[in-house]
Amino acid sequence: MITLAIETSCDDTAAAVLNDDKILSNVVSSQIEGLSFGGIVPELASRSHMTQLLPVVQNALEKAEINKRELDLVAVTHAPGLIGSLLVGVNFAKAMAFGLHIPVIGVHHIEAHMLAAFIESPQLTFPFIALIVSGGHTQLTLAKALGEYQILGETADDAAGECYDKVARILNLSSDGNSIMAGPVIDKLAQMGNPDFFSFPRPMIKSNDFHFSFSGLKTAVLNFVQKENRTFSEQEISDICASFQEAVSDVLSEKTIRACRNLGISNVVLCGGVAANSRLRSVLKEKCRSFQIELSIPSPKYCTDNAAMIGITGYKKYSAGSRSNWGLGAISSLTIEKAVI
Ligand code: KG4
Ligand code: ZN
Repeated sequence: MITLAIETSCDDTAAAVLNDDKILSNVVSSQIEGLSFGGIVPELASRSHMTQLLPVVQNALEKAEINKRELDLVAVTHAPGLIGSLLVGVNFAKAMAFGLHIPVIGVHHIEAHMLAAFIESPQLTFPFIALIVSGGHTQLTLAKALGEYQILGETADDAAGECYDKVARILNLSSDGNSIMAGPVIDKLAQMGNPDFFSFPRPMIKSNDFHFSFSGLKTAVLNFVQKENRTFSEQEISDICASFQEAVSDVLSEKTIRACRNLGISNVVLCGGVAANSRLRSVLKEKCRSFQIELSIPSPKYCTDNAAMIGITGYKKYSAGSRSNWGLGAISSLTIEKAVI
């Protein structure tokens, strides 16, 4: 089965082509250039999708060496996300599928982040615990079966990715005009820094639940910077990044392991944009190894927003009997627990 997948839920325009669960091509056209971190303007994002989507889809088909007449299914992100951006993708997908006389299937973006693990770990089995860390979500989810998910805990305030973006602004790192994503910039600087430079708080690390809170950590970085009230050297900036990153990685990994142990689950998936973070990957890997927990982490290109994850999710759900109809619409807010179509 040849699937064309489309992702336009935020500011990346992405398309992928799959043969069953094998990725033939995966194209991402990155964000609107020149904005500082966190600077997504929804209206501009939708307009950008409108101009980028057709060339991105054509590029994905060419790279996969697939003619559109060979397609069997169109999978598209229909929730959650920026409503205007979602609408561009959903309507494009429906029109294309209708014109080609093939089915369309709507995919939940967060479910897709989670199922991206199957791209490179086809042996992964349910049940597993997923730590989903993206720009808008920080969730510990118990995946019982395909389409059967239970949120164990989530953030009470900022998402982990949002916290990265805000700390980058506090540290004035947004002058790096190459990216509007703060995570990779902090990640790179932190690799040259000392994680013991300053001990930032580990919010809710000891709390007897699976919830998170990152706004206090962001404030702790702000307070530290304001209290010092001076210009930091490049090394000190790297040290602050490393110390901050250590706190984030500690909390996320500690709670994930606790959830596994409390529920007796021995499979973990780390996913979402922040799962591309080198320190979080290695801390969680180390902890999982010591508790004999099997860990699956997608390659960074399948962690940040991409259409390959939409394709594999659409393919799996369609194969399991899920169907969307032509009334498929865009939904800006939808919990993963309702990701069943
Ligand atoms: O999943 P994603 O691509 O988009 C959403 O669905 O939100 O996640 C984007 C988030 C951004 O906040 C970005 O700063 C963060 O993922 N991110 C990272 C890294 N790469 C992306 N955070 C930490 N380290 C990274 N290497
Ligand atoms: Zn995402």
